[in-house]
Amino acid sequence: MDSQIDWHAARAALDWQLEMGVTETISDTPINRFEQIAPPPKAGVAQGAQAAVQPVSAASAFDPVTEAETLAQGAQDLARLQAVMADYPHCELRKGARNLVFCDGVAGARVMIVGEAPGRDEDRMGKPFVGRAGQLLDRMLAAIELGRDRAGAQSVYITNVLPWRPPQNRDPKPDEMAMMLPFLKRHIALANPDVLVLMGNVPCQALLGKRGITRLRGAWAEAEGLPVLPMFHPAYLLRNPAAKRDAWADLLNLRARLDMKA
Ligand code: URA
Repeated sequence: MDSQIDWHAARAALDWQLEMGVTETISDTPINRFEQIAPPPKAGVAQGAQAAVQPVSAASAFDPVTEAETLAQGAQDLARLQAVMADYPHCELRKGARNLVFCDGVAGARVMIVGEAPGRDEDRMGKPFVGRAGQLLDRMLAAIELGRDRAGAQSVYITNVLPWRPPQNRDPKPDEMAMMLPFLKRHIALANPDVLVLMGNVPCQALLGKRGITRLRGAWAEAEGLPVLPMFHPAYLLRNPAAKRDAWADLLNLRARLDMKA
């Protein structure tokens, strides 16, 4: 009996540590991960002989959003984009995350789904929407003959506004969204979908500059030169099953649009 209690207590303690972001259990000496991430270059610090003679201007002051834009624009394909995001040091979320969650599904699919940020399961697996909300998303897509594991016209491509899990699944902060937005925009351009589906308020805020999913859902809008359909987030649907009726209407709306432009 005692050993059973010990087992459960040990298991709970382990789960708690994983939840807190523990990834190493074998080091004898502690590793300070904060020191491993290079601090941003200071404004006006010379990067070479030429930079040393240039005057320090407001334009040369360090800005993580400008740096993200430059890196994102320089990425010529999705693999390169993933690599520059993995190396981007200025978003604090990366410090607590196990994995960069970049995408799932088929690049080039007609439908690109944009969620909010990885949760615990996604952080562990390195893929978006693999937890309970993701399973519901898969069932929703299957109901209109779409899926991340399907090919051709039935395929979808999935990503999130943020590629790293926020601690305790808190809401993304405005500065985190601002610095990751250039990467998301480049991601959309490189994946080249016909339509975007925005799951919940966070992607609506990022790409439409608006929140209020209850009003926005079901109405086609435009972002990044593409038709955009805001929908309730599947996690919201799990908490509010009555909203599934609206979600079903939105799925049929999406299906009709795809069939119209087949
Ligand atoms: N919720 C999201 O918005 N994205 C995920 O990847 C998982 C849950």
